[in-house]
Amino acid sequence: MSAVQTLFETALNAQKAAYAPYSRFKVGAAILADDGKVYAGCNVENAAFPEGTCAEAGAIAAMILGGGSRIAEAVVVGDAALCTPCGGCRQKLKEFSGDDVVIHVANLDGIRRSFTMAELLPAGFELEQKD
Ligand code: THU
Repeated sequence: MSAVQTLFETALNAQKAAYAPYSRFKVGAAILADDGKVYAGCNVENAAFPEGTCAEAGAIAAMILGGGSRIAEAVVVGDAALCTPCGGCRQKLKEFSGDDVVIHVANLDGIRRSFTMAELLPAGFELEQKD
C-alpha cells in the first residue's frame, strides 16, 4: 500500500471515532511524521462550542506525544466536497511543516485534492525562536 493510501485509511478510521454530536460533521486526520510513524486524530466537540478541537490538532498532539517532530505528509478526511483544514489548523500544521509538505484533502471516496503547505497558508506567521 502506498504511503498516501495508508494515511487515507488511517484518517478514515480516525474519522469514525470522532465525537461530533453538535455539527454531526466527523473529521479524521493522519500525519506521516519524520520518525516514520503515522499519527491520527479526530475532532472532539464540546457543548461550549469554541472548546471543541479539530482532527488536525488531535493528530499533531499525538505526533508530539509519540516522539515525532516534523510533518512529512498528511491526509484530512471529511464527508464533504472539499474538507480543507480550517484557518487555525493551517497555522497549527505550519508549525511542524515546511512549505513543500503536501496536505491531501479527502472525502469518503478518496483523495480529492492535494495542497502544499505554502498553498494552504501563504505568508503564514512564524517566530524565529523555537526549541
Ligand atoms: N473540523 C475539523 O476537525 N477540521 C477541519 O479542518 C475543519 C473542521 C471540525 C470542527 C468541527 O468539529 C466540525 O469539523 C465542523 O466544523
